[in-house]
Amino acid sequence: MPSALTASQIREAFLAFFEERSHRRVASSSLVPANDPTLLFTNAGMVQFKDVFTGREKRDYSRATTSQKCVRAGGKHNDLDNVGYTARHHTFFEMLGNFSFGDYFKSDAIAYGWEFVTKTLGLSTERLAVTVFNGEGGIPWDEEAYELWAKQGVARDRIYKLGLKDNFWAMGDTGPCGPCSEIHYHQGDDIPCVEEAQGNKCQGVACDCDRWLEIWNLVFMQFERKEKDAPLIPLPKPSIDTGAGLERIASVVQGKRSNYDTDLFQSIISTVSALTGTAYTQEGGASMRVVADHARATAFLVADGVQPSNEGRGYVLRRIMRRAVRHGTLLGLKELFFFKVVDRVIELMGEAYPELRESRSFILEVAKHEEEGFRKTLDRGLKLIDEELGRLQQRGEKVLSGKVVFLLHGTYGFPWDLTQIIARERGHDVDLDGFKKELEDEANRAGFSGSGQKAVGEVYQKLLANLGPTEFLGYTGEGHEGEGSIRAIVQDGVEVMQASAGAKVEIIIDRTPFYGESGGQVGDTGRIVGHGGKAVARVLDAQRPVQGLIVHSAEVSEGTLKVGDMVQTSVDVERRKAIRANHSATHLLHKALKLVLGEHVKQAGSVVAPESLRFDFSNFSPATLEQLEQVEDLVNSWIRDNAEAQTRIMAIEDAKKSGAVAMFGEKYGDTVRVVTVHPESTELCGGTHVRRSGDIGLFKVVSESGVASGVRRIVAVTGVGALQHVREQEHELRKAAELLKTSPKDIAKRIEATQKRAKELERKVEEVSVKAQTAGSKDLLEQAREVNGMKVLATRVDPADDKVFRGMADQLRDRIRSGVVAIGGEKDGRAIILVAATKDVVARGISAGDLVREMAKEVGGKGGGKADMAQAGGPDPSKLPAALEKLYELVKGAGAA
Ligand code: ALA
Repeated sequence: MPSALTASQIREAFLAFFEERSHRRVASSSLVPANDPTLLFTNAGMVQFKDVFTGREKRDYSRATTSQKCVRAGGKHNDLDNVGYTARHHTFFEMLGNFSFGDYFKSDAIAYGWEFVTKTLGLSTERLAVTVFNGEGGIPWDEEAYELWAKQGVARDRIYKLGLKDNFWAMGDTGPCGPCSEIHYHQGDDIPCVEEAQGNKCQGVACDCDRWLEIWNLVFMQFERKEKDAPLIPLPKPSIDTGAGLERIASVVQGKRSNYDTDLFQSIISTVSALTGTAYTQEGGASMRVVADHARATAFLVADGVQPSNEGRGYVLRRIMRRAVRHGTLLGLKELFFFKVVDRVIELMGEAYPELRESRSFILEVAKHEEEGFRKTLDRGLKLIDEELGRLQQRGEKVLSGKVVFLLHGTYGFPWDLTQIIARERGHDVDLDGFKKELEDEANRAGFSGSGQKAVGEVYQKLLANLGPTEFLGYTGEGHEGEGSIRAIVQDGVEVMQASAGAKVEIIIDRTPFYGESGGQVGDTGRIVGHGGKAVARVLDAQRPVQGLIVHSAEVSEGTLKVGDMVQTSVDVERRKAIRANHSATHLLHKALKLVLGEHVKQAGSVVAPESLRFDFSNFSPATLEQLEQVEDLVNSWIRDNAEAQTRIMAIEDAKKSGAVAMFGEKYGDTVRVVTVHPESTELCGGTHVRRSGDIGLFKVVSESGVASGVRRIVAVTGVGALQHVREQEHELRKAAELLKTSPKDIAKRIEATQKRAKELERKVEEVSVKAQTAGSKDLLEQAREVNGMKVLATRVDPADDKVFRGMADQLRDRIRSGVVAIGGEKDGRAIILVAATKDVVARGISAGDLVREMAKEVGGKGGGKADMAQAGGPDPSKLPAALEKLYELVKGAGAA
């Protein structure tokens, strides 16, 4: 028998099967959904096509096939808790899918599905069953699908009818959805069933057990839900969305009963097993499975720009990573191990997903960093949980309080669900509501409000639907002037027919040279002029509230502008030029950073404004001055090459193949603009750029700083901005030179000399003050008393000062020749005492240290030091006289002994 297909072969076979049937092979989209605030992570193949299904977006193909990276953790479809303990749950998985956008429908979808499963994969029809929607919630039963399956030759008693829960699919609370039909594979009735264990009957295809395993879901997209719980609206055209988990398909094809037994996971688990030195077993292998699964999620999420943090996506990733580390410690792994497992994932999957290879060093660094951080507090946190659980046990209580969960979260970095898992392992639960309340309280204290997502006004959605997209004139020719007709005016969120001088409005024109803010590039400013110059509006900003629609925020300064007016539009040219130079320079900077710091450098945000550019990127350590200079040198050499900038419009796939850099989190259509500012740099970009790289003029970094763990920020200037920057620096230097009475080039030397002089003066002042204080020491000597043939003097000097005391003590000691001196005083509400003894006295067994220690007791303090000089301090200066008086007795006692 030929050996079973590997997971990679299955992936390829699937994509090729649909490609042969006229489907476009489309690359997986990022795990971070582009411009989709409704979704935490891409959780199905259809996510990147959401707007295509609803008709909001058009593509130049109507059939597609993908192998999509998916994460189901956090939010709807959260599988994290189960991962490791079942045969099927994962945080990260690959979903194979075929899609029809108003092209074929049920009949072909079912025929393709059946053919691929039975012919290409060669699964036995004996083991297959299918399900169809039985009608529920006002949606009729899917008789059509039933008959179509029967037509394929599926026995009627193998076609099951199930309800909304199993056979209606929705991406989330909103979005396209529809009834579905699933293909199930019979693994065997010897597999344990939860229902049977409880004395019930196994529910077959509808059962949660794995006897019948769902391997493919065919969704007949027919509806859209615009808001949570709102009624369903029919889609413009019925469409197809299917999803088959590669891990499951591989397990069935390879005859394994757990996804973790397929080659996809075994090759990672073997790495974990080697690190621990113990063999993997199905029964005891939960922790190894957790580590393997989570290493996959980590590698892919970090490659797509997510980093562990305390909110949103970053927090989900942190939970995944920390859960993995804890399971590593359960396996006895004491050293940093997680990055090694993650590295194995990159090695295995880097071929199919090159982004893993590109970011390898960065991904490993993130993994190391997070494990290190967590390990520092892991033991203390676990101890705290132990103690708390012990206390609960004693009191006979079950629930760990929200306060403790919050403390563990904030102080020890324990994600709440990790605490929950640990508590559950010991038969306890946690008060999640209490925890959430603590979190909220904290957020309120920190003044946090909302998610920061801009709500897109209905009015713009409607305008786009009615008027169609705005034509942007800024790419061609000089691109800063145009003519168009006003299509709509919006005032305070409502459409109006006209606007007169003084009104602040938003104007939509069918064609415009104004760039609407996007991709980091700020919006243009300028003028809109109508009626032969009689009506004028100043454009203060241009935005794109929805993709495709450019909206001018303007103030009418003269006359009246009406819907339907033909108008002349002109962008502030100098400002636009500066923006262009900064945008092109941003591309060059990105490339130079990759060359100097490494391929892991990824854009993490940018702002391209007329005065400067700001570029955030992933990197762990600050760039050194030398590296920054290298970056500047590279960028400036490309500028001096004066290369002709080129823009090509190409299919996204071709663009990526050609090596163009795509920005994470950006949404691209099928055709994209590929911008080459210089042969060194090619990026997908919708922004406006220089004609030749030389137009940038000069590129100068202004600052480099950290914005978050692993994210650095460079602010830089170009062209006129750079000239201005250099001038400002020059002015400052000149001012400083004037103040220092020297020339700018000698400033450093002059400052050095001035500093030296200042130090000298300081020292002199000190000397003088010590001298002044000690001048009186001569008279003091007269107060010395004779004790046991020694001179003993205890005196008070306020305010106390260490240096002065020491200077005085030295002098007094020299003078008395043989004896003990004590000086006491007050400083900032504290008593200070210094005792010094001459050598011969020390030789007689008297120690300044012992004396001062005893005296310190009087002022409530402690002290000590050497036998010839010692010092003490205490909180009660009112007892200083007593403490000083005590010296005479102490010496008397010591001398007598
Ligand atoms: N979108 C469907 C699913 O995820 C195919 O199951």
